[in-house]
Amino acid sequence: MKTQKRLGILTSGGDCPGLNAAIRAVVSHAIVTYDWQVFGIPYATTGLLEKKTIPLTLHGMDLRGMNPLLNMGGTILGSINKGDTLAHIDEIIAGYQALELDALIGIGGDGSLTILEELHSEGNWQFIAIPKTIDNDVAFTEKVVGFDTAVNTVVEALNRLTFTAASHDRVMIVEVMGRSAGHLALQAGIAGGADCILIPEIPYSIKGVCSHLQELRDNWGRRFGIVVVAEGAQVAEDSCCHTECKIEKPSCGMGQYIANEIRNCSHNQLDIRVSVLGHIQRGGIPSAGDRLLASAFGKAAVDLIARGETAKMVAWQNGQVVGVPLKKVINKSPSLVKLDNFLIETAQSLGIYVGKQGRISRLKDSLGSLPLGYS
Ligand code: F6P
Repeated sequence: MKTQKRLGILTSGGDCPGLNAAIRAVVSHAIVTYDWQVFGIPYATTGLLEKKTIPLTLHGMDLRGMNPLLNMGGTILGSINKGDTLAHIDEIIAGYQALELDALIGIGGDGSLTILEELHSEGNWQFIAIPKTIDNDVAFTEKVVGFDTAVNTVVEALNRLTFTAASHDRVMIVEVMGRSAGHLALQAGIAGGADCILIPEIPYSIKGVCSHLQELRDNWGRRFGIVVVAEGAQVAEDSCCHTECKIEKPSCGMGQYIANEIRNCSHNQLDIRVSVLGHIQRGGIPSAGDRLLASAFGKAAVDLIARGETAKMVAWQNGQVVGVPLKKVINKSPSLVKLDNFLIETAQSLGIYVGKQGRISRLKDSLGSLPLGYS
């Protein structure tokens, strides 16, 4: 008698939009094309440890002919975001064996993929990874599930905040996620029309931010300002405006810190408000881009399993989905914004301050005219 392959799937680490679309694609392709059984593992490795599964069927993906999973944020499987998993490595491997799984697909970011890589090689599991994270910091892939929606969410917030900032001639500080990678701040900042984008990779100068805002106000008639700051942005050593200024990691959050410093620097001349977008960036309905990517990644992951491949991550490279060795990905992640990234130059060309190297006046000197959008 032919036995059906038993495929497990889990989501690990911080959630993001598009996880359910990836689960849907895996379930559909595994059942329709290969006639496998698919089991969701609740709460990532906790589910393996506790030997729990959620049967995933085509019928379960479908609600009266509709596909709610395609556009539902979060993850129906639940997730965990804590670091003590490897303390239970033997129990997790025993749990996987007890569930009699033939292969596993893990959807995770940089941290989760590192843990899952260790688990699958210790347990000798057939394992394929799908990258996801709103930080977009997984190496060897140009796209990850969740990032596109998060960029759109931040841009939507910037659209709204720009109107209110302009109405009151205010400086709006918008703190976004990104502890070590600034991709989200950089891309959303450019697309959302920010005046300053402060990312972890390029230390910013408080004096630099203040004089940039002042310059926009005095010389170019721009009476409000939008500053996008990543939660992990770094303050440059020599950038303080006053003696009490401290440059170590602020306990109040980077948005509030820069607001306080600009206030001091400008001698309370600027009216400043802070918006911390927080987990709003992780929730929401996945964008069309994330649904497409999640669907393509889900299909590709199942095909890799069918071909007997293991220890690979599906990745988007040059318009194609490919499989790359997971070990290689882990050794190169997190993938940060490089200083020669074309988007840094793009931001500068638009007159955006992006850290110590991005002064608008330098741009004015080199272009001999005002950047787009300023008159
Ligand atoms: O890794 C994604 C991320 O969104 C980071 O940018 C952020 O610092 C972190 O997750 C927040 O995680 P938590 O949900 O544990 O607060």
